[in-house]
Amino acid sequence: MIAIGCDHGGFDLQQKIMSHFEEKGIQYKNFGTYECKSVDYPDIALPVCKCVSSGEARLGILVCGTGIGMSIAANKVNGIRAAVCTDHFSTKFTRLHNNTNVLCLGGRVLGDAMALELVDLFLETQFEGGRHQTRVDKIMKIEKDEHRYE
Ligand code: RB5
Repeated sequence: MIAIGCDHGGFDLQQKIMSHFEEKGIQYKNFGTYECKSVDYPDIALPVCKCVSSGEARLGILVCGTGIGMSIAANKVNGIRAAVCTDHFSTKFTRLHNNTNVLCLGGRVLGDAMALELVDLFLETQFEGGRHQTRVDKIMKIEKDEHRYE
């Protein structure tokens, strides 16, 4: 299952992503926002990320205007490695090398077709492990040592 959420800046794109999931039979849980009205993106990022870090969702997708605010908020949550992606190469390698578990997209940055391709690529690419596992472990150790958000 994929956890998904957006603010008003990502609302239209998130609707497209959810339709895409429905067409492809991909299960998802929608954490809102449910209308175009202005909301604060951290209020959406937190429940999406908790759903991922608890293991309920395999991966998460967050959409705001740029993807940046969502990614900053998401990376404060224990267990989350979030990346803003705008191209295929970064999207593929952030799964292969960083084992990111949340993809952040900019609804005001990306065209719909590009965004849907990046979503598919993110969901289908598996972490390579090996030397990258060592590096990801070091990232997670920083989080532990600093007693970040529980
Ligand atoms: C909302 O206007 C906008 O700031 C938000 O969607 C996002 O781009 C923040 O990073």
